[in-house]
Amino acid sequence: MIVLALPGAAALAADLAGRLACPWSQLATHRFPDGESLVRIDAPVQDRCVVLVGSLDHPDGKTLPLLFAADAARELGAERVGLVAPYLAYMRQDMRFHPGEAVTSRSYARLLSGALDFLVTVDPHLHRWHALGDIYSIRTQAVAAAPAIARWLRDQVPQPLLVGPDAESAQWIAHVAHLCSSPWTVMEKTRSGDREVRVAFAPDNDWTGRTPVLLDDVVSTGGTMVAAVRAIAAAGLGPPVCVATHALLDDEALDALRDAGATRFVSCDSVPHSSNAIALGPLLADAVRALARPSTSSR
Ligand code: R5P
Repeated sequence: MIVLALPGAAALAADLAGRLACPWSQLATHRFPDGESLVRIDAPVQDRCVVLVGSLDHPDGKTLPLLFAADAARELGAERVGLVAPYLAYMRQDMRFHPGEAVTSRSYARLLSGALDFLVTVDPHLHRWHALGDIYSIRTQAVAAAPAIARWLRDQVPQPLLVGPDAESAQWIAHVAHLCSSPWTVMEKTRSGDREVRVAFAPDNDWTGRTPVLLDDVVSTGGTMVAAVRAIAAAGLGPPVCVATHALLDDEALDALRDAGATRFVSCDSVPHSSNAIALGPLLADAVRALARPSTSSR
């Protein structure tokens, strides 16, 4: 096996290769003046299982180099080519919300499935799709971040009350709450635009003495979490600790979250971010070990 780091993923690749006891190399890339990309594999890949590594936040600029790298690896004799993308893009466009729209979760899945033999990711946004296998035709593993998040909470937060900002977050909230033996609840979210989000929260119990922990899979503009932090304050609970599996937010959104009253914002290291506090490396390495074995079924 050899691990190849996609642009920006050297730390993740080095960590993973260390855990898998295999070599790693950085994919060399160059952007020509006309905007086209060159990718070059500088390590021997013949007869090896090649594991491309890199999160797919800001995916449009990352996807073509990824596809070129997968193709080059095959032409150079790789036995199998897989991808470890802790954050998997385009999962939230899982229906035609307006007439004529592309269902990009499905289109993106077709694109990656045509280039790869396997895919490892972390808590993909499965809402209307129930499993990656609904849209991906290759071997996939969706690693749950819950054990890592629960471990962090047990160390850092006394008496947590897990709160999710919307109905679809129940799947992650319930898992983490179970591992922490903590109560949990979810809010009701209405989104009317990219940054326009409302949440309704009516706590169904007296949570005195509990520390609210707001948990979401993706934080992008931060609009959902800011609205949820305000709803927690309005409900008379204490200031929350905020946790994201995939932190896509910029500094402005981080400030907005603090201004709204969040005491802390921490994230898993699926996407490099100043808030990273929860390591996913051990879980990813286990998943790669399981999936990178040769399959008896054909692709
Ligand atoms: C969608 O339902 C996701 O779980 C997140 O709640 C959403 O992507 C957060 O986006 P934003 O930070 O832009 O509100």
